[in-house]
Amino acid sequence: MMWRTAFTQQYALDVPFISAGMGFFSLLPAVVEAVAPVPVIAAGGIADGRGVAAALALGADAVSVGTRLVASQEAYAHDDYKRRIVAASAEDIARTALFGPEWPDQPMRVIRNRVVREWAGRDHKTPPSSDPPHIIGRTVVLGQAYAMPKFSAILPTPDTTGDFEEMCLAAGEGTGLVKAIKPVAQIVPEMMDEAKRIIEERLVPIIGD
Ligand SMILES: Cc1cc2nc3c(=O)[nH]c(=O)nc-3n(C[C@H](O)[C@H](O)[C@H](O)COP(=O)(O)O)c2cc1C
Repeated sequence: MMWRTAFTQQYALDVPFISAGMGFFSLLPAVVEAVAPVPVIAAGGIADGRGVAAALALGADAVSVGTRLVASQEAYAHDDYKRRIVAASAEDIARTALFGPEWPDQPMRVIRNRVVREWAGRDHKTPPSSDPPHIIGRTVVLGQAYAMPKFSAILPTPDTTGDFEEMCLAAGEGTGLVKAIKPVAQIVPEMMDEAKRIIEERLVPIIGD
């Protein structure tokens, strides 16, 4: 049972990476079958009630939401980063291993800014750091001041200053569905209400009288 629990947890954390190889519609039911009866939390690209309803229909017991909640009033993310999530469409999201002197060569999804565009096609690994490092911004990590080297994987918080066109702006494939920065107390009920509406109006009628 232990390994199964670990597997579902891993799945929840790694979907943005795994899903580059296998789509949500085939991956989620396969995981649900593989780990049954362990509950599965679906994650990756779920940004509104449609995603919640789809995940439940495919066998998930719950959903985990990342990007949508970065663009919330409460998230400790820089306002510029939140605004870029709202402004970006799905086509603005790139999968890259460019970022990470701190955590090298990890593929992740990010908003395509200048540094991502400049390194497109050469971004399967984190490029070597220059000596002395080229500093693109300043922030605070675990209470300590931190000078962000070029390709830093540290995400911008309200403590961050510098060039946002050089920074890692992690964001998933559901980014295009995020239309406004809102309080979490509004985002979550709206998602669940929309999911319930879809189930009532689109799924229940299939059963007929
Ligand atoms: C701000 C942010 C930080 C993230 N950090 C990590 C991370 O450290 N490790 C990881 O495996 N995934 C990370 N992810 C990807 C999340 O696991 C992913 O967002 C989650 O599965 C939900 O997907 P969604 O953002 O499409 O809702 C991060 C995503 C965001 C938006």
